[in-house]
Amino acid sequence: MIELKPITPDNYIEVLKLNVREDQKTYVATNVRSIADCNVYKGYEPLAIVADGRAVGFCMWGRDPDDGHYHIVRLMVDADHQGKGYGRAGAKAVVERISAEAECNEIRLSFVPGNEDAEALYTSIGFERTGEIKDGEIVMALKL
Ligand SMILES: CC(C)(COP(=O)(O)OP(=O)(O)OC[C@H]1O[C@@H](n2cnc3c(N)ncnc32)[C@H](O)[C@@H]1OP(=O)(O)O)[C@@H](O)C(=O)NCCC(=O)NCCS
Repeated sequence: MIELKPITPDNYIEVLKLNVREDQKTYVATNVRSIADCNVYKGYEPLAIVADGRAVGFCMWGRDPDDGHYHIVRLMVDADHQGKGYGRAGAKAVVERISAEAECNEIRLSFVPGNEDAEALYTSIGFERTGEIKDGEIVMALKL
């Protein structure tokens, strides 16, 4: 249904144009910020979520050098493409990708309190709250 593709000269303008809804803007950084973060903090990979040949969303993952955990750091689907299953498919695909890392036995992520759509999505694919709050966000983990 979807593919995860690297950010390249061919798709990066398309990815920069993807935006969440106005009321979701506090839930996730812009894609331009995320791609910049990947260039500054090594070991993080930015990926386009592509459906029918066009970018509909974005995700970013990596291993936090401080705590050693693998994280899904960002996940977003463009406002015009939400509610079609791309978010769940993208999340599952990035979980599969991270799971291929030899030393990975757990994947972590966090969400802004009140972001119930995101929590419902992550819960539906097996993530559970750890009880921790990190930088004001609620932490979830998936044991592999
Ligand atoms: C969270 C997000 C990625 C979901 O993407 P999406 O493509 O709309 O999600 P899907 O269509 O795959 O839906 C998957 C599940 O997410 C939850 N969900 C998504 N949109 C929802 C909504 N408007 N209301 C309630 N639940 C919702 C549901 O559990 C849904 O499962 P269901 O269809 O079986 O009910 C998208 O809403 C988004 O980009 N939000 C803003 C950025 C963000 O919050 N990112 C997460 C940061 S931690």
